[in-house]
Amino acid sequence: MPLRTWALACLAVLTLFVLSEAVKKEDFKTCSQSAFCRRNRALADSANSDAHWASPYTLVKGSIRFSNNYMTADVQNTQTNNVLVLELQVLVDNTVRVRMDEKSPIHPRYRDHEQFTLVDKAKPIKPFKSGKNTDGVVKISLDADRKIVVTPSPLVIEFLVNDEPVITLNDRGFFNFEHLRTKESHKPKMVKQTKEDGTEEEVEAPEEKDLWEETFKTWTDSKPRGPESIGMDISFNGFSHVYGIPEHASTFSLKETRGGEGAYEEPYRLYNADVFEYEMDSPAALYGSVPFMMAHRKNESVGVFWMNPSETWIDIVKTSEQAEGTAVQKVLNLVKPSSNKKSTKTHWISEAGILDIFVFFGPSSKDIFRQYTRLTGQPAMPQNFAIAYHQCRWNYINQNDVHEVDSQFDHHDIPYDVIWLDIEHNDGKRYFTWDSGKFPDPIKMQKELDQKGRKLVTIIDPHIKRDDDYYVCKEAKDKSLFVKQPSGDDYEGWCWPGQSSWVDYTNPESRKWWADKFKLDNYQGSSEALFVWNDMNEPSVFNGPEITMPRDMVHNGGWEHRVLHNIYGQIYHGSTAQGLEQRSNVPKRPFVLSRAFYAGTQRFGSIWTGDNMAQWDALQASMPMILTIGVSGIPFAGADVGGFFNNPSTELLVRWYQAGAFQPFFRAHAHIDTKRREPWLFGDPYTSMIRSVVRERYALLPYWYNTFQEAHETGVPIMRPLLVEYPEDENVFAMEDQYLIGSGILVKPVTEEGATQTNVYFPPSDIWYDLHTHNLVHGQGSQVVSAPLDVVPVFYRGGHIIPRRERLRRSSHAMTLDPFTLVIALDKQGEANGSLYLDDGETYAYAKAEYLKGQFHFENGVLSYTVAHSNPHFASTIASVRVERLVILGQVAATKAVATDAAGSRQLQMEETQNGKIVVRDPAVLITENGWKIELS
Ligand code: NOJ
Repeated sequence: MPLRTWALACLAVLTLFVLSEAVKKEDFKTCSQSAFCRRNRALADSANSDAHWASPYTLVKGSIRFSNNYMTADVQNTQTNNVLVLELQVLVDNTVRVRMDEKSPIHPRYRDHEQFTLVDKAKPIKPFKSGKNTDGVVKISLDADRKIVVTPSPLVIEFLVNDEPVITLNDRGFFNFEHLRTKESHKPKMVKQTKEDGTEEEVEAPEEKDLWEETFKTWTDSKPRGPESIGMDISFNGFSHVYGIPEHASTFSLKETRGGEGAYEEPYRLYNADVFEYEMDSPAALYGSVPFMMAHRKNESVGVFWMNPSETWIDIVKTSEQAEGTAVQKVLNLVKPSSNKKSTKTHWISEAGILDIFVFFGPSSKDIFRQYTRLTGQPAMPQNFAIAYHQCRWNYINQNDVHEVDSQFDHHDIPYDVIWLDIEHNDGKRYFTWDSGKFPDPIKMQKELDQKGRKLVTIIDPHIKRDDDYYVCKEAKDKSLFVKQPSGDDYEGWCWPGQSSWVDYTNPESRKWWADKFKLDNYQGSSEALFVWNDMNEPSVFNGPEITMPRDMVHNGGWEHRVLHNIYGQIYHGSTAQGLEQRSNVPKRPFVLSRAFYAGTQRFGSIWTGDNMAQWDALQASMPMILTIGVSGIPFAGADVGGFFNNPSTELLVRWYQAGAFQPFFRAHAHIDTKRREPWLFGDPYTSMIRSVVRERYALLPYWYNTFQEAHETGVPIMRPLLVEYPEDENVFAMEDQYLIGSGILVKPVTEEGATQTNVYFPPSDIWYDLHTHNLVHGQGSQVVSAPLDVVPVFYRGGHIIPRRERLRRSSHAMTLDPFTLVIALDKQGEANGSLYLDDGETYAYAKAEYLKGQFHFENGVLSYTVAHSNPHFASTIASVRVERLVILGQVAATKAVATDAAGSRQLQMEETQNGKIVVRDPAVLITENGWKIELS
């Protein structure tokens, strides 16, 4: 058999195998199978078990300098004598950066990821106060309340609020910075071992194993640079909950990882990986990685961003501390008698790079989201259509199929905005091409969709089929844009197209070339109604170690893949987004869905939680997963509605639509081997149940858009954990089965088979109204609510005004000029506030102030409206848009409603129902007009 045919045959077998087995845990390393994780965990174990353990790292007192707003000092490892340089910088907005790198490395360590991760140059500012004492203790104050204290020996860095350390680095002495060395110069650590005959011999210590070469299954990693890992313990003092570090199918409040009841045995792992049928409740790595963690306690949040895109493991343990205090507290006489609290102690271990930690002082979680996204970038403002409903499957087989599915949505009166084409749409998995037999006229297909305001998404993966007759491959080869083997030849591996190579997006030339591929002339058969799905970008390599690229492959500048693995998919995602943005004369906001992600992905688009199962536990897991991704800066996330693998029961599908309609990215998707499951295939009552919840998504689109805009501006998650809004309520700190959308809507999807009721926790500081019945919720705290299959429990929060659009349309585009219904959910004082953000939903004109922002306020029976911002050009495009209904919830007694606007005063038609609700019909006030009022009396 020729090599090529053999390879393809193997691929087919492999694919079949892959598609027929559940997760193969043995395909992925455990910490003990990863030499650097093993070494660092062993160090932690020795530190824990040795009462006399002291970290060998010491600040060299004479080297401390304060200049250019930095504090720098040498840090010496007293065991190896290797010297590091510590840089401490205070940044704007209660943020501190701590960096350490070798003072004189034998070659540079990787830092280039900074340009892909940070948008802000992270310029230091002059601290409020800084100084050192004669013992070499450095104190830097951010303001009167917050300071950093560095004790020199052993090196400990504390972040204090009101003299209490909230975060401490190296208090457990796990700091470890493996300096670069040559194999020849390396002196192995020797230990004594007793032989069988009782005599002693010297042998290499266990940690010497795998320093220069490491084998996992059949793959050997050549590790030409030897060991270069970094480990650091970070303690969150007095915080019993930590969150973040996606992506894992785990709990929202993260678990302990060093064994014991309910704890994991393995650390949380960040190593972007394509995991087939991934396991639930596990710290194992998945498709994306964001090394960001937030800790929360009553009314206070702090955060840490460990900026390192190489493989990273994080151990978590929780402790109860006694009042004796930490080393630094003792030195400074800061021990407070009350410091008997539960703390979370974490241990971060990365394979390579430098130590680069950002500490966020908060003090609220909303502050943390702003501080973190100020550095890593604002979540992109999506186009209108992107937040509506998406219909996907692997695969809509041909143009007719697309046409048919599209028409059926209309026939069944179910709105949708986007239809997706998976990998079978192109010519032999050659991206940017079409299978012309199946899709003879893709432009016509897109035009037909576009006429209804709908879009098409095609999949474009980063693996490029090795085929000299395929222009994308030929060009990349000729321009030398592929990732290389150590020999300098193009790296080749297997993916969907068979033998493939991977574009090296870390090369600026590749990024430019790739972005240009999306020009309408270059991507034949594409139009401005076509958007993109970036899949398999961990990168997934079917025959690679852990289904990915070998770590010793080489990127631009000679950097090994290992140093940047976790950011590869993000750079690719960014290049695609740039391509879509620049393909039109007036740049449009791109829509690109990515599977892999890293810190900063929020700038480029949305992500989803990959290949989930059509099972109840996967539906349950979607909530903590999206909440976790959301608090880690990426608000636009979702899970495949219905479950990707296998066929959901009708009940599960309905429940999944109900959950998905209230998650930021709302897309149904299914594996090629599953039965078709478009909503009309189930018949009534199920089709109606799905229709009704999809319509509910559309009705709430104005509210979703407002919330996306808020996330864009502030970084605050769209799907919001309750602790963000109720930071003082300990009942909600670990809550993951209910959440808020923005600040005004509470959602508790039903995720138990057969359930007809569910428990909902109603934070007692507010009052709540059922979104469907408009009834006030009686009782506070945990309440049982009825939830038969046609009901998803959703509630308006008192004090909020929610804009809705209730005309039934085919797509979001068709709703652009529709009137608004305002749901005014009054709080205990009979007041409510809300806002309305509108822009063209498509371009970046909003950045040039072409948008409208209106504010609603209800008090003493009067609704008043203020246009906080308006742009004449944009306002002229929505001049006719009016309010067509007010729904006031909250027992206001009134018999009369009068609207007063520029046209004068007029009495309105009103109707009162027995539920304490008032509906005011057609006040016909314009949303572009400032200052109107509607008075109830
Ligand atoms: C893997 C993706 O996760 C899945 O959504 C997609 O359908 C297949 N690749 C085929 O492209």
